[in-house]
Amino acid sequence: MAEQHRPVTVHELLGMKQRGERIVVLTCYDALFARLLDGSGVDVLLVGDSVNQVLAGAETTLSATLDQMIYHTKIVRRGAERAMVVCDMPFLTYQVSREDAIRNCGRVMAETGCHGVKLEGGKPVAETVRALVDVGIPVMGHLGLTPQSVHALGGYHVQGRDERTAERLKQDAQALEAAGAFAIVLELIPAPLASQITKSLTIPTIGIGAGPACDGQVLVLHDMLGLNERFSAKFVKRYAALADDAREAVKRFAAEVREGRYPGPEHSFGK
Ligand code: KIV
Repeated sequence: MAEQHRPVTVHELLGMKQRGERIVVLTCYDALFARLLDGSGVDVLLVGDSVNQVLAGAETTLSATLDQMIYHTKIVRRGAERAMVVCDMPFLTYQVSREDAIRNCGRVMAETGCHGVKLEGGKPVAETVRALVDVGIPVMGHLGLTPQSVHALGGYHVQGRDERTAERLKQDAQALEAAGAFAIVLELIPAPLASQITKSLTIPTIGIGAGPACDGQVLVLHDMLGLNERFSAKFVKRYAALADDAREAVKRFAAEVREGRYPGPEHSFGK
């Protein structure tokens, strides 16, 4: 009998935290990479609104649209068999009213086949998280450097360095857990604070620039593959240099075309 591939569930992520097994998360924006990441055992594919910067070339995530996120989530879902697929809800699709949030997140779930959504923010979105969970939509939270608030935060800086903001982040994490979130992304916060928050929660934390104590780690795929050369940050480890490989391949193709060496007989049809 063929092996059954069923997606990783929110309950399995909870079990992983309880057993101390680290959760592997990467951003993903298309079916081709989704197949590759799924086949490599990545647990969660996050269709981040960072797609607006990484693939669409925008300065921030703020102009990402619901239709854009639905398109990318749909095609990621096509390539994923085992991995959980989570769609990042874009700016202003969940902040205006609870009704709006349910309608927009519901549309994402129904049209893409994804397994959950991600919202940025703590206490101010906790009631919305509760309303979504109540209608059966799994929600991942996102605290710390929340890119949709980049202008209010004054740039992409580490958050929670002083007592007051650290305390607020701890309370935000509690509020999200109490509202029913199944996991929380902690972005750009000091490692000791991420460790305290992680220990205080029963749901998993997924860190990005938040140190090693989080229950899982996420990176932007194109950063860790060395494809996105326009972005570098202390927390990004480059596991490959694919932009270099791509450039080299394109240069060789161009040279062979110009010199008449490609296509050779092995790439051509006789009749
Ligand atoms: O949009 C995104 O890619 C994200 C991750 C970096 C957590 O939110």
